[in-house]
Amino acid sequence: MRSYALLSLGALATIARSATFDVDAGEHGFSYVPDTVKAAVGDTINVHFYPGDHSATQSTFGSPCSPIANGINSGFVNSDSGQASQMFSFKVNNTDPIYMYCGQVGHCAAGMAFVVNPPATGDTLEAYQKAASGKSGSAPSAVNGGVLIANVDNDDDNSSSSSSASGSATATATGSSTGSAAAASTTAASSGSGGAYGGSSGSSAASNFGLVPMMLLAPLAAYFFS
Ligand SMILES: *[C@@H]1O[C@H](CO)[C@@H](O)[C@H](O)[C@H]1NC(C)=O
Ligand SMILES: *[C@@H]1O[C@H](CO)[C@@H](O)[C@H](O)[C@H]1NC(C)=O
Repeated sequence: MRSYALLSLGALATIARSATFDVDAGEHGFSYVPDTVKAAVGDTINVHFYPGDHSATQSTFGSPCSPIANGINSGFVNSDSGQASQMFSFKVNNTDPIYMYCGQVGHCAAGMAFVVNPPATGDTLEAYQKAASGKSGSAPSAVNGGVLIANVDNDDDNSSSSSSASGSATATATGSSTGSAAAASTTAASSGSGGAYGGSSGSSAASNFGLVPMMLLAPLAAYFFS
């Protein structure tokens, strides 16, 4: 667990200590989880892509499923199983609502959207999704407003926080009935990490967390906290 804690802290250190939110694209059908994020200026949103060739693309509230010129856009990112090796990371530069959808044909119409800092009433996610039904959807190929970088999932859901014991991480992963490929990788990484690089020796762990960032970030974190 120690190695994973170092990895997480190292990742946070590289993105300037602002809050980071993880959004999973397509893990549970045509949806982002969470689909609502309340972020402050300077916070970072990391979108993790599950199979389905999804995108995270910005539209206005008034034109759901259509890209804004020079808006935030990941382009399409696919995965064979679990999270793709690259995530889309973008920074929140103001507190205006940011409406994001999947540009894959039909996905936005099926409700695949999330909103950063939605208003309490009026232009809500629900209203957006209602207006999106029947729209085809598209996304530009050019990445804009953020970057595609090696995937690192910091969220707590199954991969344990830095303070939890390996036992609880394993139990959580084993107990879940869906997402078995990702859960299995999590279990392998959690239970197999004896030494600093223990988690990266298994191929499933390497593909899930990324061997390269682990090798780059662990020394950085070691330096940072020494
Ligand atoms: C936020 O500002 C930075 C720096 O000016 C810029 O690179 C980035 O694209 C902006 N993010 C968004 C989502 O527009
Ligand atoms: C995390 O666990 C939930 C159930 O607790 C499961 O639905 C989901 O697929 C799991 N996610 C990953 C990445 O394993």
